Amino acid sequence: MIQRIHHIAIVVSDLDAAIDSYQNQLGFEVGKRLLIPEQEVEIAFLPAGESMIELIQPTTETSGVAKYLAKRGEGLHHICLTVADIEASLEALAAKDVQLITPSPIQAAEGRGLFIHPQATHGVLIELLEPDDPS
Ligand code: CO
Repeated sequence: MIQRIHHIAIVVSDLDAAIDSYQNQLGFEVGKRLLIPEQEVEIAFLPAGESMIELIQPTTETSGVAKYLAKRGEGLHHICLTVADIEASLEALAAKDVQLITPSPIQAAEGRGLFIHPQATHGVLIELLEPDDPS
């Protein structure tokens, strides 16, 4: 059911500063940059072969990402894996009583996704994504 790592997401306090570091010190190219008001975040995707790094900066103090940043500081936020059929994945996980954060798939920047609770994954938030563009 899992196909590949789509992106690894890193929460940052200052997106401009993080992009500057990744671009000018670490040699990454900067891809898409998006403000997502409904999720109270701004993100930037940095291509890395067949995967990407996703930098996430909260844009409010109240979002889940903002609370995560306040509590744990900058660092790894989640790993995103692609699946062919998000509904089938949801059904398979529900059948095994896997604890989810999103009870049904949500529209994410790159497709439809769901989040698996870190308690079910030994400590890492995992996003499953059915990409809009499966390339
Ligand atoms: Co993500």
